[in-house]
Amino acid sequence: MSPLRGLHAALGVLLCVLVSVRMVRFPLLSMQLPHLLIGLLLASRRLPLLISSLILFWIAFYAGNIPSDDWQANHAWKACSTGSFLAALVGCCWKSWQSNTGRFIFVVVLAAIARVVMVLSPMAIAEDIFPRYNVGNETIVETPWLRKQLCSSSQAQQAVLCGPISPLSWEEAENRAAWTLEQMTDEECHMLMQGVGWISIPRWLPSPLPALPKLGYYMGNLPPLPRLGVPPLKLHDAGNGFRNMPGGQGKLGSTIMWPCSLAFGATWNTHLVKEVAGAIGREYRGKGANVILGPSVQVQRVASNGRNFEYMAGEDPYLGAKLSEAYVIGVQAEGVIACLKHFAFNEQETHRTYGSSVVDERTAWELYYPPFEAGVAAGAGSVMCSYNKVNGTYACANEELLRRDLKQKMGFRGFVMTDWWALHNSVDTSVVRGLDMEMPGAGGDTFFYPEALQTMEESQAGDFKGYGVNRSAVYRDPARRILSAAHKMRLFEMPSCTPGQDCVAAIFSDQRSPEAEDLARRTVAESIVLLKNEAVLPLKNVKRLALIGEPWVAPSRGTDEVGMMGDYYSGGGSGHCYIPPENFTTPFTSISERAKDLGIAVSSSLTNNITEALAAIQDADAVVVLGATTAEESRDRESLHLDNGADDLINAIAKEGKPVIVLMQVPGTIMVPWKDEVAAVALMFLGGEFTGNAWASLLFGDFSPSGRLPIMLPTHENHTIPPSTELDAVYGEGLFTSYRASGNFAAFPFGHGLSYTEFAFDPPKQSEGCQARICVETRVTNTGSRNGAEVVQAYVEFPPEANEPKLVLRGFQKTKILEPGASETVSMSLTSRDLSVYLDGWKLQHSIKLHIGASSADLRHTMSLSV
Ligand code: BGC
Repeated sequence: MSPLRGLHAALGVLLCVLVSVRMVRFPLLSMQLPHLLIGLLLASRRLPLLISSLILFWIAFYAGNIPSDDWQANHAWKACSTGSFLAALVGCCWKSWQSNTGRFIFVVVLAAIARVVMVLSPMAIAEDIFPRYNVGNETIVETPWLRKQLCSSSQAQQAVLCGPISPLSWEEAENRAAWTLEQMTDEECHMLMQGVGWISIPRWLPSPLPALPKLGYYMGNLPPLPRLGVPPLKLHDAGNGFRNMPGGQGKLGSTIMWPCSLAFGATWNTHLVKEVAGAIGREYRGKGANVILGPSVQVQRVASNGRNFEYMAGEDPYLGAKLSEAYVIGVQAEGVIACLKHFAFNEQETHRTYGSSVVDERTAWELYYPPFEAGVAAGAGSVMCSYNKVNGTYACANEELLRRDLKQKMGFRGFVMTDWWALHNSVDTSVVRGLDMEMPGAGGDTFFYPEALQTMEESQAGDFKGYGVNRSAVYRDPARRILSAAHKMRLFEMPSCTPGQDCVAAIFSDQRSPEAEDLARRTVAESIVLLKNEAVLPLKNVKRLALIGEPWVAPSRGTDEVGMMGDYYSGGGSGHCYIPPENFTTPFTSISERAKDLGIAVSSSLTNNITEALAAIQDADAVVVLGATTAEESRDRESLHLDNGADDLINAIAKEGKPVIVLMQVPGTIMVPWKDEVAAVALMFLGGEFTGNAWASLLFGDFSPSGRLPIMLPTHENHTIPPSTELDAVYGEGLFTSYRASGNFAAFPFGHGLSYTEFAFDPPKQSEGCQARICVETRVTNTGSRNGAEVVQAYVEFPPEANEPKLVLRGFQKTKILEPGASETVSMSLTSRDLSVYLDGWKLQHSIKLHIGASSADLRHTMSLSV
């Protein structure tokens, strides 16, 4: 062996030794760099080996970062590391006497095996139940089944365990927090302010694996303080369901793949949203998480925003406020802290981490803040500041936004956390400006390090811009707020697993329940908006049905590691929910099974090919085309049209003269250029795992649709606001977005949605004994021949001098399901705020008109009111 080869082999062995030492955990970056250097040195002789060594190095690196306390799972990870280590060892030695290609293949194959083992073993291990509660002689993880058992008995401890809990008042929570805080050292305060538990690879280094929390940890983690009974905080995505991810964050399909939040908005049903939030909260509790990174309550501005599917408010602040309130109350009743996000003006994904939203005060308070204010008023324990800058300053270090508007003016008493890596400066300035917690605390740049806190304490005490707090008070304030939120949600009284110790099984546990599945089915059905119907739906007298379009058989994407890519059932990114493709029923299967039961013959063309489609519809009595598109976090949509030429397909089929029904699964705004050519159109915002079931129920008339558009569908893209390609996104249109803009640009207006029945509204009148400023009631009667529910909407018209849009939504109410001929009196209360406009503070308007109707373009009655 030549001396050079000997040296090479020796370096290879050294690398392996260091990598295995790494497994014992060196948390500091400075300790990791030598490993990397040695790896590079080792590989410098040949490119293939350079690549394969790097792959091995990173695998070992990841495996080395696992929590040492999650002992069972740790064995698997250690085995993987050892596998990588052995692969490296053998591969490196082999270098001396084998061909390059052989070595390369050998090492890469071993690396791949190690990777697969890494992903699979923790899951397999977590199938075994991990201890969490004592039930008789057994210790067992919380599942819906266990919850039922425990909660049906009447032991005292179960008041808090079984939920819904009664959150404490802020006063009570703050009193308790003050006591806890008194006992805490500065270091302990700091522990509450910065997340832990992420694999600490600096994001600028190339890595074959994405940055992720370690096994047994959540998206965000704060350690417990057992000495004082402070529970660990465990934060996880997102508002539309638990983010099960392959690897360390859960098992696919172990929670419901709920409809997206915008679909919640399309129900216009606050009771349902509260119920859904409660069910999601129970899944979180079962999974061991106690902070839900949602709801997302931004009001939509840019039609192509890649995250609109996550934004429940749709395009309206009032709708958003009511739903935000309902969601916060629902989820927090399960002992899970809600997090209102993303604060604020994060209305586009283009330039999201460095662009600046330029917004004036009136637009902020009237259009974009109300859902946040309502969530705050409902007691939300946390808020997430957004990635973007606001009027030139990063949101997470923006004192106008956080201290003045959120904490002072809105009276927010919980804590503010950063979006993931959204902090760009030191603890000193950001804490003073209103931030309380940095997330995730690793895996990228971090700033809330203890030394920075010390510097802050040592620097001179002083008053901060009239916020009436001195430096040391500001410094301990984050801990006080975090403790208060935890006390408010009774987290000190609940059993809780600890990340890095015993959360693995909770994270992997199966939290599905038949009740939750049923609720998800009801929710997606109720979210469907019937846009047009020339008496073809529900289907009747159809003997031969043609199903056309590639989305009928589109799979749910279950394999993509971190879920950054969306599918036709759930959008991509941190709001993505999964269902394993093998557990998923495609819309095609749902409809075909149903048709078979009814003796209807089905022909199909399950692509978007026009020739095939025309052949498939020849004998059909009716044609149903399914069109779809999706969207993802971190980029805006390139097109507002259905995917893969579906518009041309629909136009071509419509020419054949058969009744054509178009169904759409979309993440937000969609263009409908063919709407006049077809007989019926229905829309579902990405609807989760029961999409097919809901379409079948709609087509065959199991229910009357009662969803309403929470956005406007425009006639042309020109009537939407595009994402700003400049670094400044100037909100120059002010309040005039969506239906509030002048001119009628709607293909289907905001608030629109048809039913299978008809409703009449009696002339409204002011109600007696009103607790609000004005209460208005109207009697709604089902004048059609089927059961159905209506959404009554109240739009205020302010006097011209108020310079408001022509109409602004200030009330809505969904009726219960009314039988034909049945009536319900619907009452809407308008507060002083609802009757005010923001002109350097809220100014009550004394003479207004109130329009009552079934959409922003279907106004049935008008009342003039003196306030
Ligand atoms: C998203 C947040 C999410 C966080 C944690 C960020 O990229 O903007 O909405 O909660 O990641 O996954």
